[in-house]
Amino acid sequence: MEIFIDTAEISQIKKYWNMGVIDGVTTNPTLIAKSGRDFKQVVAEIADIVKGPISVEAISTQASDLIAEAKELVKFGEYIVVKIPMTAEGLKAVKELNKLGIKTNVTLVFSASQALLAAKAGATYVSIFVGRLDDRGHEGMEVVYEIGEIFKNYRLPSKLIVASIRHPRHVIEAATAGADVATIPPDTLDKMLAHPLTDEGLRVFASDWEKVKKT
Ligand code: G3P
Repeated sequence: MEIFIDTAEISQIKKYWNMGVIDGVTTNPTLIAKSGRDFKQVVAEIADIVKGPISVEAISTQASDLIAEAKELVKFGEYIVVKIPMTAEGLKAVKELNKLGIKTNVTLVFSASQALLAAKAGATYVSIFVGRLDDRGHEGMEVVYEIGEIFKNYRLPSKLIVASIRHPRHVIEAATAGADVATIPPDTLDKMLAHPLTDEGLRVFASDWEKVKKT
């Protein structure tokens, strides 16, 4: 499974890119706003660091405007993937962008039926928001399994991204379900990295090493 980092925080992107554990980045308007920085500056800096898919969201509502936005966004570099909303106009744009060779990530997908339509339109990636489904009492991961089956049954080339991840368990479930990608926020990556038994083990090794007689 590929791992993307779900953030616009440059320091976090650098940290995990330099560790070799992430393959790409996803952003959205909320994450860009959270960074408190200029949108273009942030995207340019991400493109300087990451040599893998970088999802940046188009915010227009009409297909023609989404296409125009996408054409501007891809000027940030060869790795840009344009996030397009899961709407009728969005899918119209996806169809055209596919013809133009511009990669898309259909976002705000909450059901297998939406994912099927996004894949039919020619989406490069389809992002299912599991955390937001769980927040409302649904079982987000069930939808991931359904989409996985559908894409496999018909050899649909769209890649499934498990997004809106809340904790490491979501990541393990995404990997078990065979998702193509999990896009993970930095705080969840931090939790995946650390374990109290690793810290305790290190403390014991360090203190025992002090007792070793050195020649
Ligand atoms: O990037 C899209 C998605 O991962 C957002 O997650 O936490 O806002 O539901 P969240």
